[in-house]
Amino acid sequence: MRPILVTSALPYANGSPHFGHMVGAYLPADIFVRYQRMIGSDVLYICGTDDHGVANTLAAEKEGVPYKEFVDRGYAVWKRVSDLLGISFDNFSQTSRRDPHYPLSQEFFLRLLRNGRVVRRDVKQLYSPKTGRFLADRYVTGECYRCGFKEARGDECPKCGSWLEATQLRNPRSRMDPADLLELRDSWQFELDLAQFPSDPRVRAWLDGLRPRLKPNVATFVFDKMIEGEGLEPRPITRDLPWGVPLPAKDLDGRPIADAEGKVLYVWFDAPIGYISSTIEWARAHGKDWRRYWIRRRGEEGARLIHFIGKDNITFHCIVFPAMLAWQEGGGPGGQGPGPGEEYVLPDNVPANEFFNLEGRKFSKSEGWTIDIEEFVSKHGADRTRFYLTAAMPETADSDFLHREFKAKTDLLANQFGNFATRVLKFVGQYFDGRVPPSSKDWEGVRGQVEARTREWAECIEGFRFRRALDAFMGLAEDGNRFLDETAPWKLRKTDLAACGSALHGALQYLPPLSVLAEPFVPGLAAKLRAMLNLPPRSPGPLLPAETLPAGHPLGPPSVVIERL
Ligand code: 2FM
Ligand code: ZN
Repeated sequence: MRPILVTSALPYANGSPHFGHMVGAYLPADIFVRYQRMIGSDVLYICGTDDHGVANTLAAEKEGVPYKEFVDRGYAVWKRVSDLLGISFDNFSQTSRRDPHYPLSQEFFLRLLRNGRVVRRDVKQLYSPKTGRFLADRYVTGECYRCGFKEARGDECPKCGSWLEATQLRNPRSRMDPADLLELRDSWQFELDLAQFPSDPRVRAWLDGLRPRLKPNVATFVFDKMIEGEGLEPRPITRDLPWGVPLPAKDLDGRPIADAEGKVLYVWFDAPIGYISSTIEWARAHGKDWRRYWIRRRGEEGARLIHFIGKDNITFHCIVFPAMLAWQEGGGPGGQGPGPGEEYVLPDNVPANEFFNLEGRKFSKSEGWTIDIEEFVSKHGADRTRFYLTAAMPETADSDFLHREFKAKTDLLANQFGNFATRVLKFVGQYFDGRVPPSSKDWEGVRGQVEARTREWAECIEGFRFRRALDAFMGLAEDGNRFLDETAPWKLRKTDLAACGSALHGALQYLPPLSVLAEPFVPGLAAKLRAMLNLPPRSPGPLLPAETLPAGHPLGPPSVVIERL
């Protein structure tokens, strides 16, 4: 069986989780993984926090907290929130756990260096005299050299929309402290030579295969905008910072790397390697083999690697990290990566989502324009929240969290799905002693609907179209309601009890498959429904033929599956 490795973008430890993150990279991955587990795939779901980089160091310093303590606190928040929403990671690690992350990241760098994929280059950088360090573009503000706007950012001008070079801004200042006037200073960095990327034969073959699999929004970005549009240039992969994975002092042949002291690997270099270190951590804890998910023999298929991310991370997952993976051949003593005749697998897909806003405006904690996830989920429950977030998922275009829509959509879930199950089960409890009544009919039509909806649902999940998969689930609930309206067992009860029982027998056959189609979206409700049906948790395996409830099967006590808001 071809193993599947699923990742969700590692969130910055300092960031506070909001629905945009959940709906962009976590919930879709979780739905996909839950589905794969149901059908019995060998699937592993990996994540962790992204603990390095200036975003974390500046935030920690602002609070006067040691870096590690600061990111550990952030980790706890992300872990709590993802658990609360039922995001079912197999492992959730941190890039600041040194072993195995630091040596593995250093090995990645050293192999690239030996293979001629990184080059050393002198650069000018903005230096903050007050904090004694170089600042990354996004922590710099100053006057736009194109339109004169006073509050331009180091990477972009919000007024004229130009991409900017931070080093060319007029009067550059630190965004953290406007009184900190920045100076231009000389430094040097290692750069990953991405110009080699599109012409590399292995990369070329992989890109050709990848293109038709990508969602159109992702393919357009990678091919039209990046590779065939702007083109690829070398990107710095080291930084002058006191926190991060240290640049190794020696190369793979034991020769010193001059002036490595004080430099670390860029956060975007070590973060995706975090996917691998988190896998290794999982494998160690469970006595399993991590290489099965990451390394293949050349010429063999290997695992399917799938990265769930938001659209701002596309370049790193479709270009930078694949380059790092593709160029790892030939290790040194004690290395962990691919040995002779082996290679890292490259992503099979990167189903990136668009952005998710709150009532038409970007989520922003600092501006108070946000929803506290923990509060929201304690009030409304994880299932209702997951259901709505899936229904509103920004799969092909940006979308919004709308409070009105939250009520309307989740009331539909309560009516069509919850109420259907409760009505049928109560009726059977009352008039048929809580046992599935015998039937004089075969209910072939019911079976046909169940099969069609199940196929549609599975195809949509496999194709990363989760909104449509949710529609297939709700469509089956609608089919069930229509069946009940048409057969009207409550009318038959007084005139023809056997026909009434037959109709209920038919209606009941919608419920096991509904519990199956519900599981990836609303796992809590799915489990509740199975308990009401007196069915054990389903064992992984083929979905069809669908589970049925035989005549005489004793049902569990009926209750309310989910209330309307
Ligand atoms: O944009 C972000 O939030 C990054 N922390 C994502 C990193 S994804 C991966 F490479 F780890
Ligand atoms: Zn401008």
